[in-house]
Amino acid sequence: MEFEGAVAVITGAASGIGRSTALALAKLGTDIVVADIDDARMEEVSQAIENLGRRALIVHCDVSQDASVKNLAAQTLSAFGRVDLLMNNAGVMIEGDVEKISLADWEWVLNINLLGIIRGVHAFLPIMLKSGSGYIINTSSIAGLIPDWGSPSLAVKTIPYITSKFGVLGFSESLYTYLRPKGIMVSVLCPGGVSTNFQSNIRHAADDWQQDNDIKYQVEAGAEATGNSDLGDLMEPDEVAQIIINSIKKEYFLILTHPNSRERLVERGQYLLNL
Ligand SMILES: NC(=O)c1ccc[n+]([C@@H]2O[C@H](COP(=O)([O-])OP(=O)(O)OC[C@H]3O[C@@H](n4cnc5c(N)ncnc54)[C@H](O)[C@@H]3O)[C@@H](O)[C@H]2O)c1
Repeated sequence: MEFEGAVAVITGAASGIGRSTALALAKLGTDIVVADIDDARMEEVSQAIENLGRRALIVHCDVSQDASVKNLAAQTLSAFGRVDLLMNNAGVMIEGDVEKISLADWEWVLNINLLGIIRGVHAFLPIMLKSGSGYIINTSSIAGLIPDWGSPSLAVKTIPYITSKFGVLGFSESLYTYLRPKGIMVSVLCPGGVSTNFQSNIRHAADDWQQDNDIKYQVEAGAEATGNSDLGDLMEPDEVAQIIINSIKKEYFLILTHPNSRERLVERGQYLLNL
């Protein structure tokens, strides 16, 4: 896609991977719709985009709410009259033993991580189909491909998250098959551990929190706490953003960030067949 003069909508754009991608795209000449629930951080990102000479539109958008995502599409159209790239990126995590995680917490995770992405596609796809072009990037996780990427002990504590991210992968892959012939590209982003505010926003199933305090920093491929050098270090979000830009240029469906992701994916296939 042509970045110069394009319009990108990014959810979860106030922080971390969304923020870095917004700024990397703005540097290439793209105007950005900054969508998030964190108003203060959105202001900072918007200012940074404008300092790069591009337009930024802040839309307070809670991806767990139908009306809020519909409003995001309406405000984008009214301000820019088009959308070239939609990055469905907002995400959250709950950690704890699965029997202690309430259905309300399951709904919280699935409503943001999976339905939030579906809502984004539902609201913006008609616009893209009408123009016969567009690019959709959905943020899954390496945990959406390889559940025990971080460690088996972490995988069993993050089952709702893994479930949601597997859903994102399946949704994105079938969407790719459906939309590619219609001129719309779909990619799925599967990062390993990235140094963002994600870890500080994790919910903990009440009873587990004290006893599992020791694994609280082993989020995703949170290598530092595990001491397992195979997992690698947490990546900076700016580096992830550059990988995203390069992958858009090459139109890769699967966007992997960490060096050993590919090998682990092949091993995972073998592991699954042997279960
Ligand atoms: N950080 C990692 O290690 C890592 C690894 C793999 C995948 N991911 C995924 O990357 C995505 C971005 O996470 P990040 O690491 O940049 O974290 P982050 O916490 O820095 O950013 C996430 C942003 O999403 C926003 N958000 C949360 N709930 C929202 C909602 N209901 N509506 C709109 N916005 C909402 C937050 O306010 C925040 O600004 C997530 O989907 C996450 O699952 C992160």
